[in-house]
Formats: sequence, structure tokens, C-alpha cells
Amino acid sequence: MMMMELRKIEERAGRLLSLEGKVAMVTGAASGIGRGISIRLAEMGAFVAVLDIEETKGRETATEIEAHGGEAVFLKCDVRSAADCRRAVETMIERSGKIDILCNCAGIAIRKDIVELTEDEWDLAFDVTLKGIYLLSREVVPHMVRNGGGSIINIGSGWSLKGGPRAASYCAAKGGVVNLTRAMAIDHGKHNIRVNCVCPGDVETPMLASECAQLGADRGEFMREAANRPLARVGTPDDIADAVLFLASRMSSWITGAALVVDGGGLA
Ligand SMILES: NC(=O)c1ccc[n+]([C@@H]2O[C@H](COP(=O)([O-])OP(=O)(O)OC[C@H]3O[C@@H](n4cnc5c(N)ncnc54)[C@H](O)[C@@H]3O)[C@@H](O)[C@H]2O)c1
Repeated sequence: MMMMELRKIEERAGRLLSLEGKVAMVTGAASGIGRGISIRLAEMGAFVAVLDIEETKGRETATEIEAHGGEAVFLKCDVRSAADCRRAVETMIERSGKIDILCNCAGIAIRKDIVELTEDEWDLAFDVTLKGIYLLSREVVPHMVRNGGGSIINIGSGWSLKGGPRAASYCAAKGGVVNLTRAMAIDHGKHNIRVNCVCPGDVETPMLASECAQLGADRGEFMREAANRPLARVGTPDDIADAVLFLASRMSSWITGAALVVDGGGLA
């Protein structure tokens, strides 16, 4: 009897987390966290558009999904380009007729203070991190409205909520991601579009390796410091993908405008 009930609970949880029949777009999906999110959403049944400027690695993400029985397509898209964002959305609408889930994950980390930063680097950080969310979301939202709703998940950072050293443009742009998320949640809630933000702590990806190199830090020491948090390890793309899955699914149907910190307790 007990086992039966447990199985029923598991079946119900599986149904609530299932993305069968859903169409998802993920940016920054050629690498690291975006790649992990794409794979997780596809595993749960979504048809996933893998968006990135990196063509070779982006195609690899889509191929890997298909090799495991999932459905995916790679679309080359520079999120700084209004034309690229429009084309990617048009392609998905022609192909699938709708977009249920958008995860804005593309990002770039420049580890400099404001004196070291060039104006071009400042603009690059804002264009990729913040303007990209605006450019792609404004194309997707009208289709979500037409389709009766959707879920948008923006990837912020622990440094959306607190500052960090030699990361001025990153902290500024990521801080903006959280409040843009709230503004979008307020504007589009009436159309059943939920907009949330996931704020990861240090996750082992090429970006983290690049930050270590930019700071000229010793790799071992850098990783030990990154793991110095209550749960005593750095994160994995899967840790973040699970949070995104929750926010993409029916499990979170009354959650919007939230900033969900996923960082092993680093900000605690
Ligand atoms: N890794 C971490 O420790 C960490 C921590 C907090 C937040 N984040 C955030 O998570 C997201 C993913 O980071 P990651 O660690 O997987 O980095 P990553 O460098 O492994 O992947 C970033 C991806 O974004 C793509 N990209 C960059 N500019 C783009 C553009 N203009 N258009 C389209 N795609 C573009 C890159 O080609 C790359 O595939 C970023 O927004 C990052 O700020 C990462």
C-alpha cells in the first residue's frame, strides 16, 4: 500500500515536470549551462531550439540531443542582433507553430574593474547579457500571448544580487537581469506568461575557466575558493538545468518575477 502511494506520487511528479509537446528555445546553448539546460528540457520531452553564435559546438548540442532520442535544431543566432533574433523566432514558428519556453542563457564574463574596462567591453557585456534578453523576448512574447501563455527563464548570477571583485560590467548587467525579469513578469502576467530568473553560483564551465585565466589565478586555488560554500562544491550545469526545468514546468505555475538562487548556499 505504501509503495503504491509512493509510485503514484512519483508518477504525478513526472507528469507535472513533463515537457511533452512543448517547444523551447535556449540561448548560449553551445556550451556549459545552456547546453545542460537544452539537454534536460529535451530529456523531459521538449523540442529544443539550440541558439548560439558558436556554430560547431551548437550543432554538437543538437546532435547529442537527437542521438539520445530527443528533438532539437541548431539555429545560429547572435543575441545582440535584432535581425538574428527575429529570424530564429520566425524559423521556430514556421516549424512548430508556437514557443512555450524561452531560456535566455547567453552570457559573457569580463573580469575587470571600471578603470580597466574599455567602453567597447562595457557595451559588449550589456549587449549580450541584457539587450539580448530584450531583443529575443520581444519577438517571442507575442507568440506566447497568441498561444495562451509561456515560461521565460532568464539566467542571472549570484552577482545579480551582490557585487564581486573585478567584474563591474558583469555585476551591473546581471543586476539588470533580475529587475528586467520582474518588469517582464508584471507586464506579461495577464497573458499567463511567467518570467523568472535563475541566479547560479560558480558552475564548472568554460566561462569559469576563462575567468580564472583572465584573473591570472592559480587554477587549483581558484577552484578551491569557488567550492568554499555551505554545500562545499562548485555547481554543475545539471544543477542549474534542474532549476530551469522546475520553472519551465507546471510545477511552478504560480511562480513569476522570482530570482531563484542556485548556488550551494554561497549567498546564504
Ligand atoms: N559558469 C558560472 O560560474 C556562472 C555563474 C553564474 C552565472 N552564469 C551565467 O550562466 C550563463 C551561461 O554561462 P556558462 O558558464 O555556461 O558560459 P559558457 O561560456 O560556457 O557559455 C556561454 C555561451 O554563450 C554563448 N554566447 C556568447 N555571446 C553570445 C551571443 N552574442 N549570442 C549568442 N550566444 C552567445 C557562447 O558562445 C557560449 O556558448 C551566462 O549567462 C553566465 O553569465 C554562469
